[in-house]
Amino acid sequence: MSKNSNHLSGKEVREIAKQNKKIIKCLEAYKNRKAEESEYLAHMSDPNNILEIDNLHTYFFTEQGVVKAVNGVSFNIPKNATVGVVGESGCGKSVTSMSVMRLIQGPAGQIYAGSIRFNAKDKAGFEKAYDIAKIPISDIHKIRGDQIAMIFQEPMTSLNPVFTIGQQLDEVTFIHNPNATKEEAKAKSIEMLDLVGIAIPERVYNSYPHELSGGMRQRVMISMALASDPRLIIADEPTTALDVTIQAQILDLLRELKTKIDGSIMLITHDLGIIAEMADYVVVMYAGRVIEKGTVREIFHNPLHPYTIGLQKSKPTLESDSETLFNIPGNVPNPINMPNYCYFRERCSKCIKKCSGDYPGMIQVSPTHFVACHLYGEEAESNG
Ligand SMILES: Nc1ncnc2c1ncn2[C@@H]1O[C@H](COP(=O)(O)OP(=O)(O)OP(=O)(O)O)[C@@H](O)[C@H]1O
Ligand code: SF4
Ligand SMILES: [Mg+2]
Repeated sequence: MSKNSNHLSGKEVREIAKQNKKIIKCLEAYKNRKAEESEYLAHMSDPNNILEIDNLHTYFFTEQGVVKAVNGVSFNIPKNATVGVVGESGCGKSVTSMSVMRLIQGPAGQIYAGSIRFNAKDKAGFEKAYDIAKIPISDIHKIRGDQIAMIFQEPMTSLNPVFTIGQQLDEVTFIHNPNATKEEAKAKSIEMLDLVGIAIPERVYNSYPHELSGGMRQRVMISMALASDPRLIIADEPTTALDVTIQAQILDLLRELKTKIDGSIMLITHDLGIIAEMADYVVVMYAGRVIEKGTVREIFHNPLHPYTIGLQKSKPTLESDSETLFNIPGNVPNPINMPNYCYFRERCSKCIKKCSGDYPGMIQVSPTHFVACHLYGEEAESNG
């Protein structure tokens, strides 16, 4: 990059494009390869986990340079648990979840490194772990939409406006059970709509998406996600587009369904209130990295990272309005040129000498509580 400027010269742009092309070609070939299942089988480090994300790097190879949207993220989702992923806009929450679903938009977007171990179940009901990051794209149907389902923020983007809800729900049944008759598929669809609390399922079955309210559409999306009996539901801001009353109903529904399917939820939100209400564990992300993780009690009652402490202070109260949420002064560094030191340094009021050095490693402060900050750990005392 040119000195003292974000402007790139023509030569620099051409050099970036050349490098990008080379890396993308390798990664695309890996994605599109044919592979035996044995190549992407994995071992869970703890069989009580449903998902283990391990040092995940997901990058966007842009004309300006490499955007390290997810830059070494690691966290686990235990069986039957809800894990809340929180952090301000652009910190990499959605890119993490899209990586798990292998829905990162190529060729620019690519999982560059790391593993995503998923504890799947085979047809006989035995557990079988896969490394999702290694699965060739042609085999991804083994887990996507079947064992892992996703609920998006805006259901209209996921529902097809030209087909009725019934046609779209039946389709899900046919994908999972190609031998089902039309009547069987319809019966299953009606059952699913009933399960998510839709009062007159037959009417919704025959409706088009635009004929339904936002809350109804989100219920339909949840019913679709459930039609395959998933082990893990990823909900990315599932209630952000809904008003408060409907929001509460959808969250209740998610909670009920988690028990019903005996599964786990990865719940992405920027709303700490939702996290406090729903999650067993919390992962706090900042600029593509996990900066703190722990049980919901640890994160709310004993937040350690200055960013997590700031988030809690910026939580809206009855006296403040929601505009103040995440109002921590300062900016996130440019994702193309991340510094070597702590990414929060420019916004941190607790900086110590050590913070000018390398990016802080993850320190374990309890069996479940981890923080990446130089204020903690043995070395902190001697270097403060
Ligand atoms: N297609 C893309 N090309 C380039 N950069 C991208 C692309 N998609 C996402 N990013 C970048 O990746 C980073 C993480 O984005 P992501 O969507 O995961 O944020 P988020 O935490 O989900 O934010 P929000 O709360 O606003 O949904 C951001 O810096 C974003 O600009
Ligand atoms: S490592 Fe230093 S700069 Fe970063 S959050 Fe901790 S105290 Fe602040
Ligand atoms: Mg997002």
